Order: sequence, then C-alpha cells, then structure tokens
Amino acid sequence: MNQLFAPFKLAGTTLANRVVMAPMTRSRAPDDVATDTIALYYAQRATAGLIVSEGTPVSREGQGYLFNPGIFTPEQIAGWRLTTQTVHALGSHIFAQLWHVGRVSHTTIQHDGQSPVSASSKTAIGATAFGYDEQGNPGLVAASAPRQLATDEVPRIVQDFADAAENAIAAGFDGVEIHGANGYLFEQFLNPLVNDRTDRYAADTMENRLRFTLEAVDAVIARIGREKVGIRLSPYGRLFDMPHHDEIDATYTALVAALGERRIAYVHVMDQSGFVIGDKDTGMSVSERIHNLLRVFRKSLPETALILAGGLTRERAEQLIADGTIDLAGFGQPFISNPDLVARLQNGWPLTPPDRATYYGGGTQGFVDYAPFLPR
Ligand SMILES: Cc1cc2nc3c(=O)[nH]c(=O)nc-3n(C[C@H](O)[C@H](O)[C@H](O)COP(=O)(O)O)c2cc1C
Repeated sequence: MNQLFAPFKLAGTTLANRVVMAPMTRSRAPDDVATDTIALYYAQRATAGLIVSEGTPVSREGQGYLFNPGIFTPEQIAGWRLTTQTVHALGSHIFAQLWHVGRVSHTTIQHDGQSPVSASSKTAIGATAFGYDEQGNPGLVAASAPRQLATDEVPRIVQDFADAAENAIAAGFDGVEIHGANGYLFEQFLNPLVNDRTDRYAADTMENRLRFTLEAVDAVIARIGREKVGIRLSPYGRLFDMPHHDEIDATYTALVAALGERRIAYVHVMDQSGFVIGDKDTGMSVSERIHNLLRVFRKSLPETALILAGGLTRERAEQLIADGTIDLAGFGQPFISNPDLVARLQNGWPLTPPDRATYYGGGTQGFVDYAPFLPR
C-alpha cells in the first residue's frame, strides 16, 4: 500500500503525510531576522507533513553567510513567530534547523573580525562563505583560517545549541534539527582527517570523536525534551573539504546507536551524491553505501524516525518507505519551484524545474512567485 501520503506519528505528533520539506538556505533575511515574506514562503509549502526550516545560526560565531535568519536574539525569535503560527494554522509542523558552520566562515562576519572557530586548525580548502569582500561589498569569500577551540570553550558552544533550542520553542517551532551534516561544525569534530585535536574532543577514540555531538544532543534534550529533537547527518559527504576516511561506517553506526538510545524524534540522512560524485576506489557509489548504512541505522532506532533526502522521486520515496528502509522522505529543490509539491506528487502533475540563479539572496523572485499547478 502506498504510504507516502498517509499520516505518520512522529514522537507523538501526527504529521499529515510523510513528505518532508528539506532545510534550504535562501538568504533572504536582510537583517538576519525572518520576515513576513519568509513566512509566506513557508505558508505556500505547508502541505508538507513536516517542514525543516533553512539553517538558522545559533550564534554570530556560528554564522558563515550573511542574510540568514538566526535564532539567538529577541528580534530573531519574534521574527520567526509569523512563520510558525502560519504553518500551524495550515495544519503542518515545522522544526528549526540549528546551525553552526565552524570553519566555513569569514573574519568579516565574526565579532571584531576574529577568526572562525572549529574543532580543527585546518582551513577548509576551496570552501566559500558569504561575507564582505575587500571593497566592503557582500559577496562570496574564501573561508578564513580557523582558530581551534580550546577544550574549555567547547561547553560554551554546547550551551549555545541548548539556548537556541529553547529560543526555537519560544518562537513556536515544534522542535529542532541539529545540523550535523554538510561539512559544518559537527562534521569537523567527527572527521578524523579534519579534527586535529589531542584533548577529550579529539578523533583518536570513538568516545572522544562523538563527545561534542552527543554533548550537544544531550544539552538540547535536557532543555526541550527528546521528542522535539532531530539531527541531520551526511555520511560520505564531501562538502566543504571533508575527506573520506576508513571509519565512516563505524563512526556513523556508533553515533546513530547512541542517538537511538536517546530516543530522539528523528535522524535525517542527506545523500550528497547528487552534489558530489562517489568513491572510485571500490566501485560502490555513495548512494549504495548510504543505503547499506540506512539498513544498519534502522536496527538501532526502534523509537526514532528515519528520514532520507537527496535526489528522491515519488517512486523512489514510496519504494523506500514500503520496504521499511525509511519512514519519511525529504525533498529539497522540488519544493523551491513547486510550493504544492505534495499535490503534484500525489496527482502525478508535472513538476516545474527550479531556477538555480535565484536559490540564494535577492527578493521575491524565485522565492514566493512559483505558482501552484492548476488542473484544467
Ligand atoms: C538552495 C539550497 C539550500 C540548501 N540549504 C541547506 C541548509 O540550510 N541545510 C541543509 O542541511 N541542507 C541544505 N540544502 C540541502 C537540501 O536540504 C537537500 O538535502 C538537497 O537539496 C538534496 O535534496 P534534493 O535532491 O531533493 O534537492 C540546501 C539545498 C539547496 C538546493
């Protein structure tokens, strides 16, 4: 039986269907505060069972791009309320994606022009942030050399996540998704070729390697409750200078087992292979490796939902739900240009292709002006 459009119980909350709008940065918050137009954008897409917000920085230090609505000031909390209220009025649910970019930032975005912070002292080669260029104009800039966090500074960042989670609930979000994917701060701790520490947060043992991530998860659970906590992970991801290593399966298997014990709401896996080409050494594609991992994860998540995003179609999503691999299916780019994606998938209506030129920044064009499909 087709389950994609059937309701789903996520940690006690009933979602209208199993279609998830994946988190997408759109960089349309001029003062780093969510606007009425941003509320309209999410309202247009509120037939998704669950919406995950664009990445919302937990602190100024955690910001790598200008014009993204954060969740650490009273104005930012107030700014998000229209979005959450409207999404709820339309019968959907929304989690805030809590984001710290770590080393993928630039001195022009940081307080007093300081260096970005990371697990690592290694610069993310080839990575770009969105800060100010030499003329002082907003633009893409190469990520600055990071400063490795001192051991006693790490708890401060853990607290920033707990504070941001509390702020998200105050702003009306149903929960939070910790952004543990895509080369940002958590991956900088998890990857032993990037994490060059020698302290209790080093990558030398599995316990040390996972310590920061699990401390942040535990602090957020303690503040808002396990049923309001999700996390996003991207095993085999390469974004922002994340080299592959021999212990990817072991690292994510151990991490997800620890998350399963904590009975959080969901684990959201992003398959980056549409963005980055797979491993040539073994001939096994990144997608195949991720699908093997999903089957392992499933076993250690008895009370935690499993979401997959990345290149999904209706057919693929239905198949993966039907064979028990995942519970919920995340769609990213199709939601940009098809605000009524759920109806289009359900009815087999044609999909409008997105305009990549308007993904990031700018005004209403390519943001809130995609029309719903009108059947004749
Ligand atoms: C414009 C754009 C912005 C994105 N921003 C984020 C983000 O803020 N956080 C995140 O975890 N993923 C982000 N992603 C990745 C998407 O969540 C999604 O995983 C990816 O687009 C693959 O799914 P798709 O093939 O359905 O588009 C972004 C993707 C796009 C296209």
